[in-house]
Amino acid sequence: MSRLDRAAAFKRAAAVLRENDRGAYTIPTKGLYPFQWNWDSCLTALGLRHLDENRAWQEVETLLDHQWPDGMVPHIVFHVDDDGYFPGPGVWRTGRPVPTSGITQPPVLAYVMKRLHDEAGDRALARRKAQALLAKADAWHRWFYACRDPKDTGLVAIIHPWESGRDNSIDWDEAMMRVPTDGVEPYERRDTRHVDSAQRPHKADYDRFLWLLQRFRGLGWDNARLHDASPFKVVDPGFNAILIRSDSDLADLAQTLGEPEIAARARERVAKARAAFETLWSDAFGQYLCLDRVSNQLIDSPSIGGLLPVFAGLGDGARQRSIAARIEAWRKRTRFGVASHDPADRRFESKRYWRGPAWIIVNMLIADGLRRCNLADAAAKVEAGSLALIEESGFAEYYDPISGEGLGGGQFTWTAAMVAELVKRAA
Ligand code: GLC
Repeated sequence: MSRLDRAAAFKRAAAVLRENDRGAYTIPTKGLYPFQWNWDSCLTALGLRHLDENRAWQEVETLLDHQWPDGMVPHIVFHVDDDGYFPGPGVWRTGRPVPTSGITQPPVLAYVMKRLHDEAGDRALARRKAQALLAKADAWHRWFYACRDPKDTGLVAIIHPWESGRDNSIDWDEAMMRVPTDGVEPYERRDTRHVDSAQRPHKADYDRFLWLLQRFRGLGWDNARLHDASPFKVVDPGFNAILIRSDSDLADLAQTLGEPEIAARARERVAKARAAFETLWSDAFGQYLCLDRVSNQLIDSPSIGGLLPVFAGLGDGARQRSIAARIEAWRKRTRFGVASHDPADRRFESKRYWRGPAWIIVNMLIADGLRRCNLADAAAKVEAGSLALIEESGFAEYYDPISGEGLGGGQFTWTAAMVAELVKRAA
């Protein structure tokens, strides 16, 4: 991309961010996702800071205003009524003052906080804002290990595919077969009103998503009970890597800001998680795999979740290089990397939600990780691939990695935020 093109791309990205700005939070896209989403907002803050640093902090502050008393930060905050989305607050019924969903999402928060702080233009503002949020981030991370790792293994499980952020991944198929569908209340999906159903989950998957929701609701959203009561419990290497990276960033940030106790707690969690993590490695696939916590078996599904551990610098040099080689091999089979699932796997679908399509935000996390692992060339290729997708198809929710076609929602916030990031970094 030439300098001029970069300036034009930034302008377009800024326009998308402004269009989806609702004052104190940003919606992912109009129509399909009309509320605040957890990891969308955090990653969006990384782009927003190039427009207005105060507004970037506000994005995460608003999310944290809706943290639960037990420490959980919910995956959706329903700031307004909008029946264009299902399941809405009337289905979740979590009893929060401002309605929220009852599950969580990948904790990129502390990673984002550290970057907002360390790379700030306004140092005093950043110090003040970060300081005020440290205890909340720590409470969320403590909640993870208390409620999603009750046996103290060092790794947390997700109890609903929507918690992974990779909602419809092939990773969940086997474990989801254990989830019944009887007793699911009648419902009408709204996602397929906005997006071609070929790019969205099947009805059988949706029934199971809702069965889990109803089960948790039946237990009054009591997080002390949900983990053990869920027939779906998966240890996702991508999710855990994000938590480990965020916890280690939280430790550094807390140390810098004079909160040694928070730093010490976070370091202890990181050490324990790192010691447990390598059990997720598969020599056969040359990458990490999910662990089904019910059957205690690794799940044969080579997805992007198993490449994300580079984000936390997990594994030794040989494992990190093996992941870089996987990315290269996947890229050879597609025109636009990085696919969300191994394109050589027979279950790969290039257009269906998380079962093949490329997502710019995941690319960014992977590139950040590769750089951290001293694999800068590989990182640069992933970033160039992201920009190529934008040039080809604009700011889509996700992309067909073979054709480059934009899929899902359009004018998508976190895609735009990542473009703002990429363009500013290269400037
Ligand atoms: C989809 C994605 C999820 C994201 C949400 C809003 O549900 O799978 O990761 O947070 O959309 O963009």
